[in-house]
Amino acid sequence: MNRDEQISLTEEFVRQNLKGYDSGHDWWHIVRVRKLASFINDMELLADPFTVDIAALLHDTADSKFADGDNEQSYLRIRDFLDSKGMSDIRDQVIHVIKNVSFSSKHKKDNPDDPLLWVVQDADRLDAIGAIGIARAFNYGGFRNNPIYFPGEESENTGISTIGHFYDKLLKLKEMMNTTTGHKIAEERHEILEKFLEQFYGEWYFGS
Ligand code: ADP
Ligand code: NI
Repeated sequence: MNRDEQISLTEEFVRQNLKGYDSGHDWWHIVRVRKLASFINDMELLADPFTVDIAALLHDTADSKFADGDNEQSYLRIRDFLDSKGMSDIRDQVIHVIKNVSFSSKHKKDNPDDPLLWVVQDADRLDAIGAIGIARAFNYGGFRNNPIYFPGEESENTGISTIGHFYDKLLKLKEMMNTTTGHKIAEERHEILEKFLEQFYGEWYFGS
């Protein structure tokens, strides 16, 4: 089996797996993360490009509906998939990325020997900031029926509103980037968050 076929089969596997999941983790998030990860890797030559593609495609699959929240079961399914499609050689690397990518507390210092993880994690985090990140956050907040804003949350850091989530997570991501290229893109996207908040408060507190 050649690599193009392996990519197509992985795309199909991911599409099946994400079906019915919330729209913040939809197929287009995967497409964007894959492109960002490839871009970062092309700039920094940190990992094998094919492995970056496969890891980016699969990075959210253990979250979803394979086994009613049983992650171990999901890892087994992914392992079987990679083995059955002739990708045993990259299997352990890819599973390691899937297991670690979304633990927001992980910093580079916790995974000093895993350039593949740095790349995919940066790409995933970049999709949570900037204009797309704002759209995803309000989409998620709507899905959960959370308020858009609860006055005072920006200082308390315990947000249940979507604006609160900016302080809990989104505004912190820039400083959590692993790669120089990721950090550069994050700076632009971070500015969008800041501008958005400024405008938001201007409108919210209009006239006061
Ligand atoms: P990851 O991609 O790291 O697994 P999550 O599953 O935590 O991230 O979040 C998916 C998307 O939903 C992200 O864009 C994130 O910012 C957004 N999100 C997560 N929790 C909240 C929340 N409480 N309020 C608003 N948006 C959220
Ligand atoms: Ni993701």
